Amino acid sequence: MKVVHTIAELRALVGAGRAAFVPTMGNLHAGHLALVAQARAVAPDAPVVVSLFVNRLQFLPHEDFDRYPRTLDADCAQLAAQGHCDVVFAPDERELYPEPQGYKVVPPPELADILEGQFRPGFFTGVCTVVHKLFNLVQPAHAVFGKKDYQQLMVIRRMVAQMGLPIAIHGGETLRSPEGLALSSRNQYLSAEQKAQALQLSAALRALIHEWQAGLRDRERMEGEAMDRLAAQGWQPDYLTLRRQHDLGPARDGEPLVALGAAKLGSTRLIDNVEV
Ligand code: PAJ
Repeated sequence: MKVVHTIAELRALVGAGRAAFVPTMGNLHAGHLALVAQARAVAPDAPVVVSLFVNRLQFLPHEDFDRYPRTLDADCAQLAAQGHCDVVFAPDERELYPEPQGYKVVPPPELADILEGQFRPGFFTGVCTVVHKLFNLVQPAHAVFGKKDYQQLMVIRRMVAQMGLPIAIHGGETLRSPEGLALSSRNQYLSAEQKAQALQLSAALRALIHEWQAGLRDRERMEGEAMDRLAAQGWQPDYLTLRRQHDLGPARDGEPLVALGAAKLGSTRLIDNVEV
């Protein structure tokens, strides 16, 4: 496994149209490693490239860009031990953004200004801009994204389709702790007590799904009550909602559904989703 920090080194190692690529912000956990294993599985003979880059463009000024954990050595050790990754691309900000990134990839509002985008304005522009740029640098044939960030996966799929990028996008299942907590780099901001409490978010999403499956259809009231229950347990919910998987529009009968939620526990914002 080679670790490179410059675009020139990356290009010298990885030919165009070959790699299976897993973009990350580092601080890797088993969920990220599962995506790397998936990249290896979808393209057994291709070089697997993992990027580690905390992308300033996708953080709002009050968010955790400065304290986001940066753990390059531990990340590389995990990737080397796993044995699937061929090239780690870990650029610094000057390498990726040598001048202010004035050109941006702005996703359409109907997909990018709802849910996460409503509470984190500009988030998906930051994500699409860096992912598009990383795609141009790595020029992968395959890329793997987690369903943990359900809306992000959809936004990237649409970007690739609309822009005609020759990249197959693969979705990876969310890896959870044995108790059911979706693994996330932000979990380490939680105290032991909060980690136990954090299970309430996925439980609330499953409860919404059960209500729907039991025949309740007053979606807005159900969602409001689910948020109230979570708030009563000490959370500050941004949204808890039942959507159709296809385009994240409101849930409707006969269509595959997904329950999505985001809420703050103390100062830590967690997201999760459950597909039906
Ligand atoms: P990051 O949060 O580091 O996540 C990198 C990838 O790992 C994403 O595709 C995310 O969905 C996936 N992932 C995170 N937790 C997971 C889990 N528990 N199980 C499975 N997959 C999981 O998402 C980003 O970085 C950034 O927005 C990025 C795409 C790299 C652009 O900066």
